[in-house]
Amino acid sequence: MNNRPRPVRKKLQRKKAWERPLPPIETEALALPEDSDILFRFAVYGDNQRGVPIHRRVVEDILLSGAEVVLHVGDYVQDGLKSEQWDLQFGEPAGPLLENTVFLGVPGNHDKNSHRYYEIVAPPGGNSWFKAVYGPAAFFGLDSTRELARQADWLRKELPISEEKWKIAFFHEAPYSTSWPWPGGSLKTRQHFLPVLEEFGVDLVFAGHIHNYERFHKEGIPYIITGGGGDTLSKPNQLPNPHMIQSARLHNFCTADIYPDRIEVLARDLRGVPFDGITLEKENGIHEVEIEDRRSYTDSPPIPGKENSSRQPPRKTARQRT
Ligand SMILES: [Fe+2]
Repeated sequence: MNNRPRPVRKKLQRKKAWERPLPPIETEALALPEDSDILFRFAVYGDNQRGVPIHRRVVEDILLSGAEVVLHVGDYVQDGLKSEQWDLQFGEPAGPLLENTVFLGVPGNHDKNSHRYYEIVAPPGGNSWFKAVYGPAAFFGLDSTRELARQADWLRKELPISEEKWKIAFFHEAPYSTSWPWPGGSLKTRQHFLPVLEEFGVDLVFAGHIHNYERFHKEGIPYIITGGGGDTLSKPNQLPNPHMIQSARLHNFCTADIYPDRIEVLARDLRGVPFDGITLEKENGIHEVEIEDRRSYTDSPPIPGKENSSRQPPRKTARQRT
């Protein structure tokens, strides 16, 4: 009989994403293009929540990128009812953006319609859904946590009378996603928002809630999920999305450059290096940007054929407008 004591196995504690070292910033990759006809750049991120060091990095990247407008797709904090989190997880790390950019933010489910959202994010008009115009772009911020039918009615009135060249919508809960929730994204935003966005021809939509990067196109509209602003990552390619184009499991944010005739969107990792992108033209549709090295930095190394890449053959998608 073996009476030797069993070795005590120490439980391996995996570090949270925000406890791991960050890669260096590549400032050149973030610089504004030198094209003389660029009108302005805006940036998009969300779901920073508990990942304060990553959030700080995203803020630093966006400031270096020269973005004049910042869209936040919601989930500023882990628990919106805990007042101190609004300072620690959002107000303090995002302070430089709140001070130096036009900051437009919609609420997420974690924000719990807290009064602190209205105080710190200060949405236009003091309302959690709004239209904000900057140059030739109209940004329609929507609240996916409440009164979706009322907002659909508002959009139905507002979109047809909006004469800005570019109409960009953003809200928290992505209507389709390969990550979660079942059966593949938020049914409530799919049912309430998408018919109106499609009917009145919004040009581009951003969402969050899913903590990674996903891009899909539906009815000629590109939808970009950029919910990798800090908190733990979600695993893509778990659920079906018939409109899926691209996904990546990494912390990220996006920049979008507005030109008179086009919008150039780039999804970027924490170094500021692009890993996916599209050019959107009014007359000539959506063109995918060729990016050679799309994942030289990720939080989790790619497993070929598994969770990290859903790359489908590159394709150009013609915009379909009826
Ligand atoms: Fe969320």
